[in-house]
Amino acid sequence: MKYLIVANWKMNPDTLGEAKKLLNSVEKGIKNVKDMEVVICPPFVFIPSLKANGAQDCFWEEKGAFTGEISPKMLKNSEVKYVILGHSERRRYLRETDEMVNKKIKAVIVCGLKPILCIANLIQLRKSLKGISEKVIIAYEPVFAIGTGKSCSIGQAKKMRNKIKYPQVLYGGSVNSQNAGDYISQAGFQGLLIGGVSLNPQEFLKTIKNIEKT
Ligand code: PGA
Repeated sequence: MKYLIVANWKMNPDTLGEAKKLLNSVEKGIKNVKDMEVVICPPFVFIPSLKANGAQDCFWEEKGAFTGEISPKMLKNSEVKYVILGHSERRRYLRETDEMVNKKIKAVIVCGLKPILCIANLIQLRKSLKGISEKVIIAYEPVFAIGTGKSCSIGQAKKMRNKIKYPQVLYGGSVNSQNAGDYISQAGFQGLLIGGVSLNPQEFLKTIKNIEKT
């Protein structure tokens, strides 16, 4: 299985021009990278122009009167393959619940997209996956580590990895070029979900090289 490296750009950058520049630098740098699949998740408005393969969220209904929402089919038709769901920032600022996340995962699967479910603990894992037997990629993201620079210790991450009985689990939270390889080689994760560092092409590429070395 290839390692999955997911770049979560969150609400950045401000312009399509900047987004294209960032993507170009990353694409140039990863041309010769093997054993890894890199997923770029920009804000929705940039997805078609960038032909991005990832998105940061979507709604659970197929179509209709849901102002402001984006459907799984719209993403599918824009050639998106992966969708991040249940990110802790959405749970916190938009009051997304496990029930809502559960409906989103189901809708994404029905549409033929691959969900990347973000969880901070095993209760969220269980509730978000209620009634779902299909393959789901999990991203373990301890809340204290997200965007703080305080990454989770390899020991704690490994403990959690062993408790999540799914074949493909990513680690996320203050990943950088120093710690990236350890989450994979020592803690046993199958990839990484990278926020802040994914906006800095040099550091992002350095992070990928660090993983390649392990
Ligand atoms: P971070 O974000 O790498 O900036 O900590 C990770 C995430 O939110 O997925």
